[in-house]
Amino acid sequence: MKRLIIAIDGPAGAGKSTVAKLTAQKLNYNYIDTGAMYRAVAWQTLQQGVEPSNQAIAELAQNLDLKLDYRNGKTNITVAGQDITEAIRTPEVSRLVPKIAQVAEVREVMLKLQQDMAGLGGVVMDGRDIGTHVLPQADIKIFLTASIAERAKRRWQELVAKGYTIQLSELEAEIAYRDKEDCERELAPLLAAPDAIHIDTTELSIEATVKKIIDLCKEKLTGV
Ligand code: DC
Repeated sequence: MKRLIIAIDGPAGAGKSTVAKLTAQKLNYNYIDTGAMYRAVAWQTLQQGVEPSNQAIAELAQNLDLKLDYRNGKTNITVAGQDITEAIRTPEVSRLVPKIAQVAEVREVMLKLQQDMAGLGGVVMDGRDIGTHVLPQADIKIFLTASIAERAKRRWQELVAKGYTIQLSELEAEIAYRDKEDCERELAPLLAAPDAIHIDTTELSIEATVKKIIDLCKEKLTGV
């Protein structure tokens, strides 16, 4: 059976990674978290501990020994063999990553890696520009959204569960800031592809969202 290419784009906290991971698991496809790749560059930049220039960030991305390994529903991310799966989720990395994602050379490196990883199909890739730039040939393009309040609440629950103390209002402001940065940047802004199917998850459960996507895949595969 043909193995599809599924692109899932949308703003921070819309549920992309949870939905993409479950969809990949159900279909026995690979899952590629492109946000994690930009986060890895941000993490490496922070490791250097100095205010970096765009040129320094570009060089760092070009030389980054980055690996994503998706197994049993979990992606392990390593840089030069060091496991940074958890380290890329800190608020410090989240604050720096929009700046990193605006550097043209970084996007170029990531684009190439992502296209190579998508291979011949059987892949669910999530991000901001997958349907528009990275995999414009994707069989199914989903644009996942949810209200800012709902997205902030989800992030808050995630962070609290990990032991962070953070105000909900602080997260709402951070998400609004990241939306603005992601949508207004010149390079590959967050944008729905014209042929993307929009799904608002504010009041839709994860299971219902995954089901919608799986149904779309079935339709595609059976030509209904
Ligand atoms: O989905 P996330 O929060 O892990 O994404 C981290 C950052 O990377 C976010 O600021 C948007 C950026 N990003 C991007 O520019 N292009 C992508 N394909 C994925 C993420």
